[in-house]
Amino acid sequence: MLPADLIRFKQIKKPINILTAWDSVSSEIVEAAGADVILVGDSLSMVVLGHTTTLPVTLDEMLHHTKAVGRGLKRKLVEQPLIVTDLPFLSYQCGEDKAVSAAGSLIKNSCASAVKLEGGEPEIIRVIERLIRMGIPVMGHLGLTPQAVKNQGYKRQAENSVEQDKLIKQAICLEEAGCFSIVLEHVPGELSSILKRKLKIPIIGIGAGKDCDGQVRVTADLLGLTNKQPPFSKSIINGRELFIAALKQWLGEQH
Ligand code: KIV
Repeated sequence: MLPADLIRFKQIKKPINILTAWDSVSSEIVEAAGADVILVGDSLSMVVLGHTTTLPVTLDEMLHHTKAVGRGLKRKLVEQPLIVTDLPFLSYQCGEDKAVSAAGSLIKNSCASAVKLEGGEPEIIRVIERLIRMGIPVMGHLGLTPQAVKNQGYKRQAENSVEQDKLIKQAICLEEAGCFSIVLEHVPGELSSILKRKLKIPIIGIGAGKDCDGQVRVTADLLGLTNKQPPFSKSIINGRELFIAALKQWLGEQH
């Protein structure tokens, strides 16, 4: 799977499914389930490393987890999902050279074929243009951008027309800069519909309504593995309780 395939999926109206993974066990499961793209999201900072935000996770940790994700993939290379890794906080906000070095090290040393980074401010657009010129495919991320938690909190974004106009302009800039898709997180569904129609690149929603070109979910949230569930990303099973009950039963049978 190549980044350009996602644009082709949009053209033929094939919904795009993206799930996160953080190690070889989760990537094997997500690949077997049929995800088109595996995102090694910086949500692993909370889901796996126990932090309360995505801010503390480091580039070395993202690389370590992406390498583990690569080792879990079982399909032939051409049939594997596209692997996208999040650039962590402070690996791209301090200028283009640092961003190329951070993204380059992920692409060079792991199975990642693309990076995702948050925001649409002019400085970020310049970073994205440079990465793409250097041969590194980029997925954008607008709306609720968890690396801006100190500024935004975790509340729904683009609630009024001024903020919506700003977000639409930023999405157009991301497309013009060469992003191959955009994650849109926790925004009103009408905004996703507008962007889906306006842009040639796919809009991938999470808490952004159903009318998107694809959806992304944090696999641990879907499986109910954590007890901190975002309100806009519901679990489909209560994995945590199922696992605890199974383990309790096994432990009880040992005596
Ligand atoms: O880090 C992550 O898992 C993400 C998704 C919420 C899209 O960015």
